[in-house]
Amino acid sequence: MSDTVVLTVENLGHDYGKFKVIENVSLSIKSGELSALIGPNGAGKTTFYNAISGKFPPTRGKVYLDGEDITGLPSHRVIDKGMSRSFQITNVFNNMTVKENVIAPLVIQHRKHFRMFGNIFNDSGLVHRVMQVLEHVGLSGRENELVANMAYGDKRLVEMAIVLVRDPRIVLLDEPTAGMNPEETENMIALIKRLAESSGTTFFITEHDMKVVFALAEKVYVLHQGYLLAQGEPEEIRSNVDVQEAYLGRKVHA
Ligand SMILES: Nc1ncnc2c1ncn2[C@@H]1O[C@H](COP(=O)(O)OP(=O)(O)OP(=O)(O)O)[C@@H](O)[C@H]1O
Ligand SMILES: [Mg+2]
Repeated sequence: MSDTVVLTVENLGHDYGKFKVIENVSLSIKSGELSALIGPNGAGKTTFYNAISGKFPPTRGKVYLDGEDITGLPSHRVIDKGMSRSFQITNVFNNMTVKENVIAPLVIQHRKHFRMFGNIFNDSGLVHRVMQVLEHVGLSGRENELVANMAYGDKRLVEMAIVLVRDPRIVLLDEPTAGMNPEETENMIALIKRLAESSGTTFFITEHDMKVVFALAEKVYVLHQGYLLAQGEPEEIRSNVDVQEAYLGRKVHA
């Protein structure tokens, strides 16, 4: 981890109508850091991600990426600036092959025309990058498979490749292990760890599964009813009484 701050969020707030879902959240994430945003169901984690990554503009507050104000930019501009994200519900094109899915963000980045899609695989630079990222996520040799035919855990790997292919400055993963079986969960944890260590990718994940959080995160932010209840290293968070109370009644410590 370096001291370079990649993402800064200042006093972020978001309302759905009269309902204040996020209130006054500030945080800053350093390059190479692996951080987790945790909180009970409905705490506002996905809303927070949506508001900082361009799904919709936040009602209040500021978002800076590498010091540049990106508040309210639409998703495609945020991706251009270097922040990439995955969704809580897997977001892949089932009727396309693995390599078509993974090359799509590069096609958009280089402003190639989609009608050229049939020939895009003649671009050796793009193809090389696709193959490289497939290798990083453990999908080498599976580039021609139709995504619809893949197991759920493998679809999430395709999604990870889509998120990583443009070599983002920071990656937001909204519950990367949601819906996975224990083996797929283990694989995903190992993959995130490996990517963080080998390529220094900066990850910011939301997660329900405390085992995952404590296995991965160097820094934990706890969101509760839309505000930051606590932040710190996993051990501090684990022993924080307020946090334990916020989670009372949930089986997160199982
Ligand atoms: N589009 C919307 N319009 C109105 N209310 C919404 C909308 N999306 C979410 N909410 C509400 O905002 C609150 C926060 O939801 P959000 O999905 O951000 O929480 P979360 O922490 O991601 O939850 P989960 O752990 O279930 O994924 C919830 O009360 C939810 O019902
Ligand atoms: Mg959510």
